[in-house]
Amino acid sequence: MQQTPSGHPVTGWWTEASIYQIYPRSFADSDGDGVGDLPGITARLDHLVELGVDAVWLSPFYPSPQADAGYDVADYRDVDPLFGTLADADKLIAEARSRGLRVIVDLVPNHTSSAHRWFQAALSAAPGSAERSRYIFRDGLGPTGDQPPNDWQSVFGGPAWTRTVDPDGQPGQWYLHLFDTGQPDLNWDNPEVHAEFLDVLRFWLDRGVDGFRVDVAHGLVKQADLADWQEPQEILSGNEVDKPRPPMWDQEGVHEIYRQWRQLLDSYPGERVLVAEAWVEPAERLARYVRPDEMHQAFNFEYLLAAWTAPAQYAVITRSLEATDSVGAPTTWVLSNHDVVRHASRLGLPVGTARPNGIGIGDPQPDAALGLRRARAATLLMLALPGSAYLYQGEELGLPEHTTLPDEARQDPTWARSGHTQRGRDGCRVPIPWEADAPSYGFGPSDASWLPQPPLWAEYALDRQRDVPGSTYELYRTALRLRRAHGLGRGTLEWLSSGDEVLTFRNGELTVLTNFGATPVPVPAGAELLASSAPLHDDGTVPTDVTVWVRA
Ligand code: NOJ
Repeated sequence: MQQTPSGHPVTGWWTEASIYQIYPRSFADSDGDGVGDLPGITARLDHLVELGVDAVWLSPFYPSPQADAGYDVADYRDVDPLFGTLADADKLIAEARSRGLRVIVDLVPNHTSSAHRWFQAALSAAPGSAERSRYIFRDGLGPTGDQPPNDWQSVFGGPAWTRTVDPDGQPGQWYLHLFDTGQPDLNWDNPEVHAEFLDVLRFWLDRGVDGFRVDVAHGLVKQADLADWQEPQEILSGNEVDKPRPPMWDQEGVHEIYRQWRQLLDSYPGERVLVAEAWVEPAERLARYVRPDEMHQAFNFEYLLAAWTAPAQYAVITRSLEATDSVGAPTTWVLSNHDVVRHASRLGLPVGTARPNGIGIGDPQPDAALGLRRARAATLLMLALPGSAYLYQGEELGLPEHTTLPDEARQDPTWARSGHTQRGRDGCRVPIPWEADAPSYGFGPSDASWLPQPPLWAEYALDRQRDVPGSTYELYRTALRLRRAHGLGRGTLEWLSSGDEVLTFRNGELTVLTNFGATPVPVPAGAELLASSAPLHDDGTVPTDVTVWVRA
């Protein structure tokens, strides 16, 4: 049985898996309406088999007004007609399974959509009613109640409270929404909410899913007094040791919820996984979500945010392995997702740039060539690490962020709610290119695309990269194949060097070297080169911003 360095048993397919995130609206459109859908995904599953991943995670496809691209769920047990039908979901799960691919679906328990029948019932019910107690309704402050109940800000900008209008047309109570107005926060002190989500989990487990990615897993429980919080709102818990914990994030009560869910999953046959999307720092605090009786994995955002320098990468990798090992959980790695600037662009910004909330016309633009070079080196480094790796659709093509998207095309609520100061996440959500010369680059049968695709998408299209030596797609295929063949995901990491410019480690019979510095470095003597993120120098040395895998 696989063990962590300190002897904890680690089991389950996810411990070493590479898991590919599908953002359904932007993956593949079967009907030409410009929005990707479930039949589109099913038709493209062979791509994922060819790529060599083990599982897919699907972002939400449930009925939704799409105020936050589906993270505002109106019905947890159905499929939005935009994406297909429940039968399409069943077919997708079955077709994935027949190809040996696991399926993880997204669960959004922190908030529902304001169109959810529960919230609609709450609006028509009286203050203090059972209907309202499923959410967080409060009277406003001030003589007329026209001031929000506290000073919390929404993650997307603006106040985290919206005032309701009573059935008689008079201004009423306020409700809490840590995200968009259309995403009222649920009240997890209410047992009915617990029962409902256990039932939703059962619904999808019965349909055969292999697990759940849990949205905003650190947000469900709020500090009981809803105390003011003077800091600007960030989804990151910002949990530095010398600062108090924000009253809306990482509260103790969330853990009991995951213990209950874990029991439910454990009662099902097969190996089902819970993955936390929890923006919690430091790593030791995040590790509490993956204790043996809670979730199985948590996204490693500290890794995603780490600067591209040898000391920063060494520190974050070491810390991540130690933190998860301390609770006997597998470590995870991720460089891109639908909420952050794609790493092929992020790494083309000056080293150490803080997490940009989108990039648009008029903003400093990333160096595209440098970004891609570093992204390829970062990916090759990541795929050699023990643990599981999360990939985001399009990164296998080296796809950059769309950094010049016209502002009028933007759909992320962040753009409007921040008073047009934060560009938001649309740039990483643009429909991906499959065929260079087809309408919408093969995204769908028509030209339609819910966000405009930039003209340079043609050069990134899958059909321009498949079987082309040196292409980013072939680099991913090679790395994923070798990762599997050498069991890297279930291996262990042994550092060989951790200088200011070069990192070298061993995982099984592989030695991995990344050169972050300006000086070319030699490949270990007598080594057989298995993969390289860019060509080596003629004298065989490893250039700047390149990772190599060798067998010594
Ligand atoms: C995290 C999701 O990844 C993001 O896209 C969404 O906006 C928020 N949670 C709110 O659900």
